[in-house]
Amino acid sequence: MKTKSIWGNPPTRLYKLLNLAKQEWRKDFTACIVGCSDGKFLMPFARDHIKVTGYDIDEIALYGGIKEFPIVKEKIKHSYSPNFKSKDFELETKKVLGITERLEIENLNQYATIEKRDFYRTLPTDKFNVVFTSCSLHYSANQDFTLEDKTKRLQDIVLPNGYLYIDYMMAIDENDYVNYPTSKFYRKNEIKNYFNDDWEIISFRENKFPTFEGAHVDCVRDHFHRFGYILARKVK
Ligand SMILES: C[S@@+](CC[C@H](N)C(=O)[O-])C[C@H]1O[C@@H](n2cnc3c(N)ncnc32)[C@H](O)[C@@H]1O
Repeated sequence: MKTKSIWGNPPTRLYKLLNLAKQEWRKDFTACIVGCSDGKFLMPFARDHIKVTGYDIDEIALYGGIKEFPIVKEKIKHSYSPNFKSKDFELETKKVLGITERLEIENLNQYATIEKRDFYRTLPTDKFNVVFTSCSLHYSANQDFTLEDKTKRLQDIVLPNGYLYIDYMMAIDENDYVNYPTSKFYRKNEIKNYFNDDWEIISFRENKFPTFEGAHVDCVRDHFHRFGYILARKVK
């Protein structure tokens, strides 16, 4: 039986990365998802029978439990304004599957290693051919580390010739250091400074404008994000 992530389906860029790695190593490579949550980005690797490791700090996302969801009766897409204020949504609780339960149901345990680990604080000794993280760096749990530190910690677990993919949050107002502290939100082109000559940047995109995101589990108010994406290869 196929299970679902509370975060929806992975975007095509995840499958592009998976196919890039498969072209190179067929299925003989290892992947790591830092901040794997309930498996949105991890399950495609396990379903393809690729050895994948996932780290997260959220026990419910890992092992299952109850989470609060906003009750959204009418989906309204708002335009960005610096003074935007979300309405308060009523909340309902739902039982959610953790990644370990999803792997069990889909009979994929043999392909995945799941660990509760505060990644940026306690770096694992294992290294991987593909390292992927989506929107984990800005979490308050990681605010003691600079973005440079966090980027380098992700780089540290990539094997030679391996790939590192990061989806990250950018400051919507680059001069606002209160709402967008430098330890959480990248400024334009900042991330490139943290990739030295050991790395080849394969693709890089930073959105100019914020995108709207409706209230969802773990962020129960309507809000905006400005995203950046980088894919790099460790060439030395
Ligand atoms: C935004 S969620 C990812 C959700 C989903 N994958 C997506 O992007 O739609 C980021 C995940 O990173 C995890 N995370 C944040 N800091 C972490 C840390 N220091 N170590 C491990 N996981 C972390 C959070 O618990 C959360 O599950």
